[in-house]
Amino acid sequence: MADVLVGAQGRPGGEEMSGQRTLEKVSVLITAEKIQERVREIGRAISADHPGRPIHLLGVLKGSFIFMADLARCIPATVSCDFLRVSSYKGSTSTGEIRFEMDVTEPITGRIVVLVEDIIDTGTTMDALLRVLRSREPEKLLTCALLHKPSRRKVEVPIDYLGFTIPDRFVVGYGLDFDGRWRNLPYVGAIEEA
Ligand code: IMP
Ligand code: MG
Repeated sequence: MADVLVGAQGRPGGEEMSGQRTLEKVSVLITAEKIQERVREIGRAISADHPGRPIHLLGVLKGSFIFMADLARCIPATVSCDFLRVSSYKGSTSTGEIRFEMDVTEPITGRIVVLVEDIIDTGTTMDALLRVLRSREPEKLLTCALLHKPSRRKVEVPIDYLGFTIPDRFVVGYGLDFDGRWRNLPYVGAIEEA
């Protein structure tokens, strides 16, 4: 990820206070309109695949929170929501490890569960999560990811509902961050050198 530079978007003590120039530049990769259109399609597909059944959305924090908020509103069925949190990335490189920082608040046993992720990169996070969640015996455990970077895949994971396949770029926005920033962009963008 050679094109990722340290910047100061919205960070107290950053650009405004230190007088330093922001070095990150973000170019639009997937527009807000394209995302909304695809999220609507995924929402309809999830409910069409499970007629008359309640859907339990399980979001992987923090990256999935915006995607899941939109997705939940696009599923014309009974929906419940829960979240879990694992630590994965620092900056733009993988630590290769995942750690559970927050578990679910409701049992998933016997439910139709859709695990909602922002992005599947190496597949390590999703793979580890699926193994733990399967042992809790949901009726169905499906996966839904906004983005997939197949070029970096290390572990094969099933993706039942996918928004977009993207090239090997570090992306931010629509929930995805770089060092905690850029999640609030309404589109998905790639970080570039300024
Ligand atoms: P994986 O375990 O390698 O599949 O990585 C999954 C996690 O890494 C995602 O849930 C993201 O939090 C983070 N991640 C991977 N690629 C990107 C990216 O391009 N931008 C922001 N976060 C990323
Ligand atoms: Mg994530």
